[in-house]
Amino acid sequence: MSTVTKGISMLIMSVLILGLLVMIVLGFMLGFSHPLPWILIAVLIVIPIIHDKLIATRFVTWQDSYSVGIDSIDTDHKKLLGLINQLQSAAHYKTDDQMIEDILNQLIDYTQYHFTREEGLMKECDYPDFDAHKQQHEDMIKQVTKYVDEYRVDKTRTIEDVAVYLKTWLVNHINGTDQKYTPYMKGKVQ
Ligand SMILES: [Fe+2]
Repeated sequence: MSTVTKGISMLIMSVLILGLLVMIVLGFMLGFSHPLPWILIAVLIVIPIIHDKLIATRFVTWQDSYSVGIDSIDTDHKKLLGLINQLQSAAHYKTDDQMIEDILNQLIDYTQYHFTREEGLMKECDYPDFDAHKQQHEDMIKQVTKYVDEYRVDKTRTIEDVAVYLKTWLVNHINGTDQKYTPYMKGKVQ
């Protein structure tokens, strides 16, 4: 969502809440026993709850089912998910650009460090699908670099797009590609 789109959606939300408040006041003119204003109050209460739930879907929480059975890799994945959440928070709360840059740099550096470690362990175990797995890592780094370059050129492009891409990619990669090596590597490497 771009900054402009976010501004428009906030404006729509404000107009909606204001409209509801006016309708509630008018509704009470029909009498306190009339159901309309009470229904509108319920709608007014539910809107921020739905809004918060939608925001929460942008963040990611570690699940035990994400484990690949190797402690060092699980630790890396938890750290990466934590950094993605930090990026999402920074984007959502409009933190200053320098903080976003710092988190982005940490994310890129740690992702590269993690891929190198994971690829080293796969090699150590003669993992048969090594080449295809490494290719996925390379494609991901290319895609993220492209997003980040675009963001740096045009700051109005929100960083939330990058955070959502990273979250989706990492969760899918862990639960798909990474977990395929578990039977070949679990118990052989730490
Ligand atoms: Fe991987």
